Amino acid sequence: MMIRMSVTLIDRPTSGATEDELATQLHDVRTRTRRLTEDLSTRQLMGPMLPIVNPVLWEIGHVGWFHEYWALRHAHGEAPGLDRADLLWNSSTVAHATRWDLNLPDRNGVFAYMADVLGRQIGRLSGGVDAGTRYFYELSIRHEDMHVEALAYTRQTLGYARPDGLGHPGDHNAGPWPGDASVSGGRWRLGSTGADGFIFDNEKWAHEVGIAPFRIAKAPVTNAEFAAFVRAGGYRNRQFWSAAGWAWREGTGAERPVYWLETDGGYGTWRRYQEVEPLAPHAPVMFVNWYEAEAWCRWAKRRLPTEAEWEAAALGEAAANGSCLADSKRRWPWGEAAPSSEHANLGFAFDGPLDVAACAAGDSAFGCRQMIGNVWEWTASDFVPLPGFAADPYEDYSRPWFNTRKVLRGGSWATSARIARPGYRNFFTPERNDVIAGFRTCAL
Ligand SMILES: [Fe+2]
Repeated sequence: MMIRMSVTLIDRPTSGATEDELATQLHDVRTRTRRLTEDLSTRQLMGPMLPIVNPVLWEIGHVGWFHEYWALRHAHGEAPGLDRADLLWNSSTVAHATRWDLNLPDRNGVFAYMADVLGRQIGRLSGGVDAGTRYFYELSIRHEDMHVEALAYTRQTLGYARPDGLGHPGDHNAGPWPGDASVSGGRWRLGSTGADGFIFDNEKWAHEVGIAPFRIAKAPVTNAEFAAFVRAGGYRNRQFWSAAGWAWREGTGAERPVYWLETDGGYGTWRRYQEVEPLAPHAPVMFVNWYEAEAWCRWAKRRLPTEAEWEAAALGEAAANGSCLADSKRRWPWGEAAPSSEHANLGFAFDGPLDVAACAAGDSAFGCRQMIGNVWEWTASDFVPLPGFAADPYEDYSRPWFNTRKVLRGGSWATSARIARPGYRNFFTPERNDVIAGFRTCAL
């Protein structure tokens, strides 16, 4: 037993959160889940069948089931609280298209199931749990974090109302933040280590890669910068698109980012949740897919950073003589301090993106702003396993998706700080324009 535990602790590090802190995290994330769902009508809780969304009623039951499956059943050996829970909510076995046809409990039944699971988790935590068990609490809390963000963009996808009580209205007067930062080349440790606390299998482990010196934008591409590409006919000009990107564009007929509205030949407004609102010119462009980012780059004679370059720009420092990357790797772009809204727009600090000049206190050593928060950033990199990859107990988290997706880094305004660690590798297929993603570019 001692040997198994020590292997587990080395392979699956945890954040060091205490039982009390885990209980607080469980309540906090559940508050967000409720704020994103409780106001929806019975019809909205089911919604239309689309490949990019889940029925909200299914999704929240699945969140409760995941907590129960991993923390209560797998770690503590408890029996299921609902006999048919696995048949309803195991995302590995319940095919996506069938999730609208299940005999789900009604709204009250789903919320009661979730409350029961949460109550049992709180009870277990109050009795004290070992580090190997805490791993599964940390996993299921982060899983709910991910679904909270998915629920936020699902409300955008489906044109539901802006969620109440999540985030202060942002200040949209910070303005643009143009120009490039120069990043030294050298050796870089790509990936995460046990010192990073709770990490996912696809981040393991840090290993050395070589990086040539490069220049990267100090901020993500803004709405105004993206609008110049749209106005220049970028969506109708084949030369800016890869074969796969053009096939997507032709197949969808896209003429501009998915939620932008054309008015009088301009692009001054967009649909935000169910309202039409002005497009903030200096906010980062968001809800663009990898193909759109790639096409913008080709038009602007720029390129996307690799994930190693993204990490080095975010966490690297120049060596004392300035000629190459130092051996160091910061915890956050700004250093060791836990994120605040001065550093990063994360976890619904604000109710949408801020201008790209905001959050100056969060600058990296090389002068890159908003590497964390505001919008996820598409990278050039395919989602592939790091050398020596081995799946963690939640085996379907990473492995089924390798080689079909692109990596995004940095987190959005709707991402919790638990997920938006700089080492976290998010991954989506390149046509997804419903996630809260933009991009930052490098000089050619
Ligand atoms: Fe899930």
